[in-house]
Amino acid sequence: MLIVPAETFPEVAARWTVTRLGQAVRRHGVAHLALSGGSTPRSVLRLLATPTWLTAAPWSQVHVWWVDERCVPPDHHESNYGMAYSLLLRHLPVQHIHRLHGEAPDPEAAARAYEDELRRVFGLGPRGRPRFDLILLGMGADGHTASLFPGTAALAEQKRLVVVGQAPHPPHRRLTLTLPVLNRASWVLFLVAGAEKGPALAQVWRPAPDRPPLPAALVRPPRGNVIWLVDEAAARAANLR
Ligand code: 6PG
Repeated sequence: MLIVPAETFPEVAARWTVTRLGQAVRRHGVAHLALSGGSTPRSVLRLLATPTWLTAAPWSQVHVWWVDERCVPPDHHESNYGMAYSLLLRHLPVQHIHRLHGEAPDPEAAARAYEDELRRVFGLGPRGRPRFDLILLGMGADGHTASLFPGTAALAEQKRLVVVGQAPHPPHRRLTLTLPVLNRASWVLFLVAGAEKGPALAQVWRPAPDRPPLPAALVRPPRGNVIWLVDEAAARAANLR
């Protein structure tokens, strides 16, 4: 766990992101990045769009994917794509943007279409799983990550790559990558900020034996790395500082 002051959180997250993307492109000629939504990534996306950072990563060789998407149109204020596009992507020479179609009238069909796109772009067979170079994840105060909420079928899904998840708060229906995909990643960077995340963070790091593990605690890629970037407020509230 990397605990940093709130004021340096965006820069540390941006540095990790561009470093991993640069490494992946140097190694494979391409990098696959999956973005989460929510509010925590906003400051990081905004920083990456500033002149100093705009050329810090080989963006034209980066494929940008989404970890999850609310079932809303891309121009809706709740759209994860809409947030990433308006804060960062519209400023970048990105040529490979793979949007989850949250606006689709049939979310299940949109989930299967994304699975097809993942298999096509990653060159996978019918049972293959994509290995992202970097996945940026957040964690809700309830310990959810992506749109994998405690006690939901989406969290328990072990075969599909993308499913329709159910959030307890609106927009309720969400398209989400599943745990098997998250656990295939080379790198996962959790971005956790704010005192309200303290109790969930404490449960992830010091799990009470009589409680099921929180969704975020289940992201442990056996052949990958997980970095928890946590601000001081969240760490203090979790008694980890
Ligand atoms: C979403 C995100 C979600 C988010 C957490 C944390 O679509 O909302 O993918 O998993 O990462 O809810 O959100 P905050 O960063 O806003 O606390």
